[in-house]
Amino acid sequence: MGSYQRIEVKPRTRAIGADVSGIDLSGPPDDETFQELKAALHEHLVLFFHDQQMSPEQHRDLANRLGRTEVHEYFPSLDGFPEISVLEHDAEHPPISDSWHSDVSYRSDPSMASVLYARTLPSRGGDTLWLSAYAAFDALSKPMQAFLTTLHAEHDFLYAYGPLLSRLDDAQERIEKARRDTPPVVHPVVVTHPVTGRRLLYVNPTFTRSIVELSRSESRAVLDLLLDHLRKPDFQVRLQWRENDVAIWDNRATQHYATADYYPEYRRMHRVTVGGDRPLGVN
Ligand code: SIN
Repeated sequence: MGSYQRIEVKPRTRAIGADVSGIDLSGPPDDETFQELKAALHEHLVLFFHDQQMSPEQHRDLANRLGRTEVHEYFPSLDGFPEISVLEHDAEHPPISDSWHSDVSYRSDPSMASVLYARTLPSRGGDTLWLSAYAAFDALSKPMQAFLTTLHAEHDFLYAYGPLLSRLDDAQERIEKARRDTPPVVHPVVVTHPVTGRRLLYVNPTFTRSIVELSRSESRAVLDLLLDHLRKPDFQVRLQWRENDVAIWDNRATQHYATADYYPEYRRMHRVTVGGDRPLGVN
């Protein structure tokens, strides 16, 4: 367990999640405090900060300190801030993130972190859950771990967003553009985290289409087994949001699921993702 001088870190479960206090994210935090924040992120994978007052500039700049900020292919941006995705849902725009995923795993270099800020919440519901993909890997038997380290999986933007795009008036154009801009990519099924060196299970039900080395039926069976295993509550933490909460997560070592139980109420979140490297397998 890390020891922290500048911030207070209160773990939520054994596997994942911690509440962090003693830090004003709008600050901006000084270098030492920020180094502690990063250490806590590697230790607990998702950090929760409460009662934070950040302007869009401060939100973007905070994410920028973790690394290069990105622009999302699908979500609209906040005016003047292309990096801030507005995740906004109501009766006309039903929630779409109620499926486990790590953000943009369909890119060749998926995001390393995300910074999510709760702006408007429904009267009840709209919680987000995260799971530890380290804990999920660690809990598998050694022969299964060894087998999985030989495999690679295809991740595809259109596997998730194709059905949504196909309902739009300009569906064909949007789908062709998506195919050009974000073609399917192949990542190892077991990834070595570039900072911690720990191994993690890197398949998710939203973007992972198939395991390339296996037959279609083998791929489906192995993916179903892994996706079911990943969902085990022992690997999870759940945040019941309050307005002005911020969650920062390690997008490589976790997956998340935003509950859709508040539909048709309104919920609005602002998210900035931070660019990462190509996921590496196990040597
Ligand atoms: C996301 O998938 O990044 C959104 C999570 C949320 O809205 O709680």
